[in-house]
Amino acid sequence: MARIYNFSAGPAVLPLEVLEQARDEMVDYNGSGMSVMEMSHRGKVYSAIHEEAKANIRRLMNLTDDYEVIFVQGGASLQFAMIPMNFLGKDDVADYVASGNWGAQAIKQARLIGNVNVAADCEKDIPTRMPHESELKWTPGAAYAHITSNETISGAQWKKLPKTEAPLIADMSSDILSRPFDIRDFAMVYAGAQKNLGPAGMALVVIRRDLVEKGSKALPTMLKYATFVEKDSLYNTPPCYSIYMLMLTTRWLLKFGLENMYRRNAEKAAKLYAAIDASSFYRGTAVKEFRSDMNVTFRLPTEELEATFCAEAKKAGLDGLKGHRSVGGIRASLYNAFPPEGVDVLVDFMKDFEKRMG
Ligand SMILES: Cc1ncc(COP(=O)(O)O)c(C=O)c1O
Repeated sequence: MARIYNFSAGPAVLPLEVLEQARDEMVDYNGSGMSVMEMSHRGKVYSAIHEEAKANIRRLMNLTDDYEVIFVQGGASLQFAMIPMNFLGKDDVADYVASGNWGAQAIKQARLIGNVNVAADCEKDIPTRMPHESELKWTPGAAYAHITSNETISGAQWKKLPKTEAPLIADMSSDILSRPFDIRDFAMVYAGAQKNLGPAGMALVVIRRDLVEKGSKALPTMLKYATFVEKDSLYNTPPCYSIYMLMLTTRWLLKFGLENMYRRNAEKAAKLYAAIDASSFYRGTAVKEFRSDMNVTFRLPTEELEATFCAEAKKAGLDGLKGHRSVGGIRASLYNAFPPEGVDVLVDFMKDFEKRMG
């Protein structure tokens, strides 16, 4: 079996242990004589998976009883629309931070629904970054405030998550459960599953009950958070297999420990940034204090060299390094499941490439 080092930004590498367990359980899950894909979402066997998935999230995030864990299809992108549909009334204003492509996507959807105040705008800044606290202009009485904890494309990450008076909502798609955070600072956090949680197919949403209760009643059933909370994400058929994979992945993370994972993530990123900083051939694209531990972005002297770099890296078993099509460059995504030895292999490859091409 040949596993490569997969630096893809998402869908992304999953823990080998999790994949192997899923393989072993594929055709006969837990003596049921069926795969998880084939069984009723209302049966006892699937129920235990559903319950453990939620319980694992509750433990990893230290959730108190006033937070709900729900699974919603449509990825993080549907959340961009559901949030304003539920919480941005006609006379309301919502604060949004324009920190990069994903923050901008959230703003674009919210503007279709209601009034948006951009509390800070560094979307197009080069080098890329997050706003400083002094730049943030929150609206008194805002319906909610929305941030993107990690901009996956630009490689910028909030190091200290802000606190707001308005209910704070964070898109944590690309750094959820990569580090500890205090859920009490948030009314809602959400993430497309396909980076740190499992395969694609849904968003994990953790939402405080008082926010759910404020949601608009005048929405189709499937667009209301209240439906997912009241029906335990089982109003209709949920993405059972994605939830099963999230359950296995979070079980793996609990065994490792979130603090340990955070330390391991910080070490992986620091090693790669140190290699970039030690060279004048490679150039990091994010402001140092906001450099992401999850998506390490950098450039080479020319686009031609970047293309050669990616092609040669792929031949050496290092795949997924091409930057997002909108910005180019190189992006090494180092999610929880990315093994530390893969960073060593990349750093050696980078040194050798510079020696030959620099
Ligand atoms: C920070 C962030 N938000 C939102 C999305 C969109 O997620 P989805 O594809 O699940 O809609 C992505 C996808 O990469 C992302 O990185």
